[in-house]
Amino acid sequence: MSDTKRLPVFETFIQDLRSAWSELPNMEARMKRGQKLLEELVKDSTLREASKNWPSTEGRKNLLFYEDPDYGFAINGVVRVAGRKGSIHDHAHSWTAYGLLDGTESLERYRRLDDGSKEGYAKLKLESVTQGNPGKVDLVPPFDAHAEQGGPTRSVAVILRSERVSGKVLQGSYSIESNTVRRIDGPTNIPVRRTSRTKLPARPIPTNLLCPSRLGRT
Ligand SMILES: [Fe+2]
Repeated sequence: MSDTKRLPVFETFIQDLRSAWSELPNMEARMKRGQKLLEELVKDSTLREASKNWPSTEGRKNLLFYEDPDYGFAINGVVRVAGRKGSIHDHAHSWTAYGLLDGTESLERYRRLDDGSKEGYAKLKLESVTQGNPGKVDLVPPFDAHAEQGGPTRSVAVILRSERVSGKVLQGSYSIESNTVRRIDGPTNIPVRRTSRTKLPARPIPTNLLCPSRLGRT
């Protein structure tokens, strides 16, 4: 299937998200709608096939597919190598919907046991581990600690964020062994291409969605 046949599913996803942001009153409601929309997107076999060409994001990187100029939500991609060990982190005040597109991952969620009043201290308890298969979307509220562990094969996820975090605010990085938390910058975003909202929907999805044309921080 050609790119032009494959990519409109992504364009529809963006349009539906913009409708949700326009219609719904708060971020939780928007992201719950976004979770449903992302569940459909990551079940799409043509996008899954296309993602096989996406480059690895090893080295704390994210592909940046789209950042909405009006509403600020961002769509990232992550490509993990087999057996990738994920660290425990949060996404500060942003909401995150993490959707498995290809491969499998273990999605870990942690509960914070302390009240956060002691600088640099965080006591966490592993609360759940969910097997993530293609089509699974984990919705992570603000400041919730979590980790994604790679499976036995390469895995790919599409991430909807209520806003881009990297380069804007620091996020939490936790050690459950030493009960510590520190604030660090998020993964480096690798822009794929910014889509002009003004020309949609007549304009097809950029054909270079699957092939980042330039590298660097946003
Ligand atoms: Fe995360």
